[in-house]
Amino acid sequence: MKIIGTGSALPKKVVTNDMLTEFFDTSDEWIRTRTGIETRRIMTDESLLDLAITASRNAIEAAGLKAEDLDYIICSNVNNNYVYPSLSCMVQGAIGATCPCFDVRIACAGFVYAMDIAESFLTTGRAGKILVLAAEEPTRFCHWKQRETSVLFGDGAAAAVVEAGNEYMGARMTTISNTEVLYQRNRLEPTPFEVEGVYVDHPMVMLGREVFRMAVSNCSAEINHLLKSKGYQVSDVKYFILHQANMRIIKGIQQYLEGTDEQFPTTVQKYGNTSSASIPILLDELVRDNKIARGDLIVMSGFGSGFTTGSLLMKY
Ligand code: COA
Repeated sequence: MKIIGTGSALPKKVVTNDMLTEFFDTSDEWIRTRTGIETRRIMTDESLLDLAITASRNAIEAAGLKAEDLDYIICSNVNNNYVYPSLSCMVQGAIGATCPCFDVRIACAGFVYAMDIAESFLTTGRAGKILVLAAEEPTRFCHWKQRETSVLFGDGAAAAVVEAGNEYMGARMTTISNTEVLYQRNRLEPTPFEVEGVYVDHPMVMLGREVFRMAVSNCSAEINHLLKSKGYQVSDVKYFILHQANMRIIKGIQQYLEGTDEQFPTTVQKYGNTSSASIPILLDELVRDNKIARGDLIVMSGFGSGFTTGSLLMKY
């Protein structure tokens, strides 16, 4: 696999921590010190589909391709206004692609899993050019009366176009079934047969400290394992492009791996936690700012609800 183009799209509305004090008892100081987040982008008159389309078009253009050149679209998305069809189907039609497409729902680690699936499609020759997209609106999973979760998230979309190449060097995916630490329950239509209390919808539930602990320990251990298994050291890696959940989680992983600040770029301070979109948003930002060069070794690593982790080692 080789990345040949990236693109991203963010909502235009910038929401500061101070703006959130209008909705609940919180403060800029609390949010900054606990999370490192200063602002986030939240959708107003845009839809998630708008962002997904723009991010996809940007990535396809950066790759020097047309939508009809794509052989597959794989989209990471936790949730959106539609249960079906999948978001990738809507994007496919809107951008003028004709290839098959599907969504994966693996929460914040979704983009890394989608890239790993893309790699296997390329290796087996099932596809030549794949759009790997992540589009997320986690601000709409929170109950906007709950300060514990609502301050953490932002919306966004980003994509990478990949083709066959020799830049993929390995991946490690893990799932430790621990479904109570971070979950949301969908609203389904009641049937006349259901027993009351069995099916309950609920906005996001998060045991913050447990998620924090699992994120730092699991992600650090998985990256370490991946690097060792491929004969690399932390110092060989130009960038660790981590899921942007919380600055303290990122710093915790950096500390464990004994990496430098330069190796751990961040966008969480600007965009908050954009779920699976955070990794490709950061990747696209590094590309657009000319901070990453062809051949640079990168690790992309995501973690989240499941509890699931995914880490991918490749050259840009
Ligand atoms: N503003 C002000 N106070 C808040 C608050 C907010 N937005 N959210 C929670 N609090 C309060 C709580 O009510 C609690 O008050 P109490 O002590 O009176 O009961 C207190 O702050 C909790 O503080 P603390 O225990 O110091 O929080 P923390 O250091 O664990 O930080 C998180 C909380 C959520 C920031 C942290 O646990 C975290 O980042 N977890 C991981 C979350 C995450 O990344 N999820 C997505 C993973 S993909």
